[in-house]
Amino acid sequence: MTSQEVVDEVNEYYDECQVDYAMIWGTNDHLSMHYGYHEDGMSHDEAVVNLTRVVAERADIDADDRVLDAGCGVGGSAIWIAENHGTEVTGININQNQIEKARRGASRHGVEDLTDFRVMDFTDTEFEDESFSVVWAVEAACHAEDKQEFLREMYRVLEPGGRIVVADGFVGKDELSDREVNGLEAMLEGMAAPNLDTYEEFLEHAEEVGFTGVEFEDRYDSVYPSARRIYLMTLLTLPVGVMLRLLRVRSEAQMNHLKAAYHQYPMLKSGAWVHGLMYAEKPE
Ligand SMILES: C[S@@+](CC[C@H](N)C(=O)[O-])C[C@H]1O[C@@H](n2cnc3c(N)ncnc32)[C@H](O)[C@@H]1O
Repeated sequence: MTSQEVVDEVNEYYDECQVDYAMIWGTNDHLSMHYGYHEDGMSHDEAVVNLTRVVAERADIDADDRVLDAGCGVGGSAIWIAENHGTEVTGININQNQIEKARRGASRHGVEDLTDFRVMDFTDTEFEDESFSVVWAVEAACHAEDKQEFLREMYRVLEPGGRIVVADGFVGKDELSDREVNGLEAMLEGMAAPNLDTYEEFLEHAEEVGFTGVEFEDRYDSVYPSARRIYLMTLLTLPVGVMLRLLRVRSEAQMNHLKAAYHQYPMLKSGAWVHGLMYAEKPE
């Protein structure tokens, strides 16, 4: 597949599965499309905001930063950062519908002057070198066919001393059983992710493009409750999903998305994939 074909497929997936994100993830309320970080019996909505808070703390974001939210979804993180830190945030996304939703969200939250949402591919942006002090990528880099290409472009647009935070899924181990290979394949297909690096490969790629101080935290405990919740919801909805697919009411992409929602939980538990947070810096 060419890079453009991958982008087109990801774009189509998000248009088709927007309704699932709204229903299963509550995206319309908190404008976020990620697992969240759970602590002490938090609700999903609270966990979603908590991830943004924890990752913003890790990147040490303040009002003087210029943040690029790469793969910004419908704008939840960018809006939260602008609202809570007074920081200028540019969100980019290949999906036009999501960008429009993000702009409407920013205006509802009164941060349209601090946020700028644009349709752009994060592996090939239009920004000048060294345009940002922070790159933020939450559950987005997984969609890049070539993770190193993504990291290289993010390195280019960061100023010296800039920071990158990537919260995402990675393959968890080198040796996978047949069951894990099949489970991961179903997961990636249903989430329009062309492939995943192991987290060691991803960190190596970061160092290869020039990042230093590369650190990684496995956030298993933080995402486990969401993974389980999505799985349980899928158990309830899968039979109806299959019926609607047979009646051609739901598309193949929507069906695959449900299957992915099913597989992600046992695969997380078995360690076939991990949800981790990478932090790195561009040298001064
Ligand atoms: C799972 S969503 C996460 C969205 C957001 N980061 C969040 O935390 O809510 C992944 C996002 O990455 C976007 N995306 C995928 N490939 C992209 C690319 N090549 N360039 C820019 N955005 C991309 C998708 O359209 C989608 O909005």
